[in-house]
Amino acid sequence: MKKDTLAEVIIVPDAAAAGALVASRIAALIVANPATVLGVATGSTPGTVYAELARRVQRESLDVSRVRAFALDEYVGLDAAKPESYHSVIRREVTEQIGLDPANVRVPDGSIERIMTAGTEYDAGIVAAGGIDLQLLGIGRTGHIGFNEPGSSLASRTRIKTLAPLTRIDNSRFFASVEDVPLHCITQGIGTILEARQLVLLAFGPEKAEAVAAAVEGPLTSRVPGSAIQLHPRVTVVVDEFAASWLEYADYYRHCWQNKLYRCPDRRDAP
Ligand code: GLP
Repeated sequence: MKKDTLAEVIIVPDAAAAGALVASRIAALIVANPATVLGVATGSTPGTVYAELARRVQRESLDVSRVRAFALDEYVGLDAAKPESYHSVIRREVTEQIGLDPANVRVPDGSIERIMTAGTEYDAGIVAAGGIDLQLLGIGRTGHIGFNEPGSSLASRTRIKTLAPLTRIDNSRFFASVEDVPLHCITQGIGTILEARQLVLLAFGPEKAEAVAAAVEGPLTSRVPGSAIQLHPRVTVVVDEFAASWLEYADYYRHCWQNKLYRCPDRRDAP
């Protein structure tokens, strides 16, 4: 691959540094446009971003009253009121912690009765909001973004998917047992995710290194749904040294970042 076509990759010391960097970028967007539309991820990874945004709201009077947010995914058939549901996770970690208006935050509807239409309606809601300005992403060990498991169409829209066995094992830490992890999910499609105006993918820890390298530097393939980020014109990958450890061009990324050599024409919001 030509280096010029690689994503912007920023290698940070730890998740706290990533949280500060990404929260700065989001805060700049919100200051420029108070009605910014965020795409928010669940999982352990974006926690420092949300905590840092909350700090800026409380201590720096960042006004998020008009910010809107769309979550990436939800389990199917899990009561939204249960603490493990992404409705609950987003309410606790995003809506309440940051202080967003609950009316401005949406999560895909994972109820079985509505599953055949919920995806189309969700995508229509994103379009009606004017599209997502910045989409936060984590990455699973299967290479998934959202819950788009290997084999997902790179043009997919929000829809029901079957979770990979490895994902159910990984997410069993949030449940009483792996058997309690739902078999199905509803997730923004890869095509939906790629319509966001900016992508920020975060990953920390050695267990993410293989998936990060495959997504950033591997071939574009539905075997690694995260590799679809290579199709996006404005994507930033923020990783710690552990998650960066399989990246062939790590030294190049450090060189670019340390010397401010990224050539994105609209990098006025760079921290
Ligand atoms: C989860 C979520 C994804 C998340 C990924 C990584 O199951 N569905 O949106 O990005 O898998 O999770 P974690 O951040 O906990 O490692």
